[in-house]
Amino acid sequence: MVAVDSTKAWTELQQHAAQLTGSHLKDLLNDAQRFDRFSFSYDKYLLDLSKQRINDETLKKLIGLADQQDLKGWIERLFSAEKVNDSEQRAALHMALRQPAGGLLLHEGLDVVANVQDSLQKMQALVEQIQRAQWRGYDGRPIRSIVNIGVGGSSLGPLMVCEALEQYAPDEMRHLDLYFVSSMDGSELEKVLPSLDPATTLFIVASKTFTTVDTLANANTAREWLLAASKQPIELINQHHFVAATASPEAALRWGVPEDHQLLLWDWVGGRYSLWSVIGMPIALKIGMAQFREMLHGAHKMDEHFRLTPFENNLPVLLGLIGVWNINFLDIHAHAILPYDGRLAQFPAYLEQLEMESNGKSVNRSGQRIDYRTCPVLWGQVGSNAQHAFYQLLHQGTEPVMCDFISPAVRYGDDGEELQEQHQLSLANCLAQSRLLALGDSMLTKDEVPSSYKHYDGNQPSTTLMLQTLDPESLGGLIALYEHKVFVQSVIWEINPFDQWGVEQGKKVATSLLEKLAQPEGSDLDASTNGLLDYIQNQVQGMKHEN
Ligand code: F6P
Repeated sequence: MVAVDSTKAWTELQQHAAQLTGSHLKDLLNDAQRFDRFSFSYDKYLLDLSKQRINDETLKKLIGLADQQDLKGWIERLFSAEKVNDSEQRAALHMALRQPAGGLLLHEGLDVVANVQDSLQKMQALVEQIQRAQWRGYDGRPIRSIVNIGVGGSSLGPLMVCEALEQYAPDEMRHLDLYFVSSMDGSELEKVLPSLDPATTLFIVASKTFTTVDTLANANTAREWLLAASKQPIELINQHHFVAATASPEAALRWGVPEDHQLLLWDWVGGRYSLWSVIGMPIALKIGMAQFREMLHGAHKMDEHFRLTPFENNLPVLLGLIGVWNINFLDIHAHAILPYDGRLAQFPAYLEQLEMESNGKSVNRSGQRIDYRTCPVLWGQVGSNAQHAFYQLLHQGTEPVMCDFISPAVRYGDDGEELQEQHQLSLANCLAQSRLLALGDSMLTKDEVPSSYKHYDGNQPSTTLMLQTLDPESLGGLIALYEHKVFVQSVIWEINPFDQWGVEQGKKVATSLLEKLAQPEGSDLDASTNGLLDYIQNQVQGMKHEN
């Protein structure tokens, strides 16, 4: 198999990039038609690529690369339940989770859509039971607090959506308090437990595999806390205070969650693609099932757009290809995600997993090492806060960075003039920053000739992604847009975006280190780890003597 970086389309893009060397966004943006040519809209989304270092030829050539890599065929394979996750021999069917009832998708002889609808129905029944105060704790009082225990895909997506859509919580859900607990060291649990009443607290143990030690350690601590407070038998505590969202019902049952309190997903849902499934139960508890379904609807519309729209106007395809252009042809290896909306504060953290766990790979689908770049380092923060943190590097550092600016166009309908003014302020900053990053000093007036330390190079490319408003439907579409963008890039790079072998070995090493921590004497590991084990033991013993 010829590696993509030895193909005609790739070489042509390299030559094209060489021809563009020296061109600056300040010149490209002089073209009054540029926005019309390089901004693309679909439904409630606008993708503005006019601040990218591209011309008409660039997009044509990138689409040529996508055609050469058979992106169309891969999209069909993805949607028709082929085992695109080849290293695990699994399909990747997160799109089926948002397909409306009545559709048909067969996978290994099973009607996937019908199964999905059944699981959503079961989730809805539990959500409504909790919401109507019919789910009772060990002393007969209704549940008021819910703690989601999960990590990675079993936490980041639901947490991000719950924060983003908090204002959409219907009145009948507002009496429920929702918490997220992830960290292995117990910090979050230690913080949250004292404020909770054990008798009215329900824990959702969200774990696709039900083997993740972080999650099981937190779940065990939570159960011990309940047992100590209630003095009730463990069976009763399991029955009244735990729900499992998992693809491993046997493991959940062994741990103690009864079958009727288990919500199931399937191995064809990747962890980082699972917020649409029962892993999204916290979302349903926050915004209600009707709006949860609105979010699914928004994502489904984006799926259809991705599957059916010609590449020239296909938002996920264009977003993916622009990334490839920046990474592989302009040599930019850092990507900042900058939402100008505090509700999307968790969106960068969510994307960190989605993008880097999916495409942080250096072996292609045939198992060969590749020698071109794949996923860049990606991070971010609410843009206006980031302005006071790391924008210095964006504007004057030595590292080229591509940025995604994300904002709703409209916010705070009837919420008062002050808040509307704050939204205007946020928008102004969003537009100003991408402008300054692109234009650099050329924005300054003649009498503002800068000294060297006030100099702005500009020419940092960015994408601006505008949503009409941020609501359940548009957020669903936004997330699906990025999911598909990741897939597009994986096809160009010839890698499998649906496995994550890189995180497996660390888990095994940690298990063996746990034994060493208990018995550090005579440790024969590497010099650094031996030294650290000694240090920890000395500190622990020192503290014991002091006491
Ligand atoms: O360790 C990484 C990972 O496997 C992620 O892919 C996943 O989202 C997370 O752990 C949690 O896994 P689980 O839902 O099985 O507990």
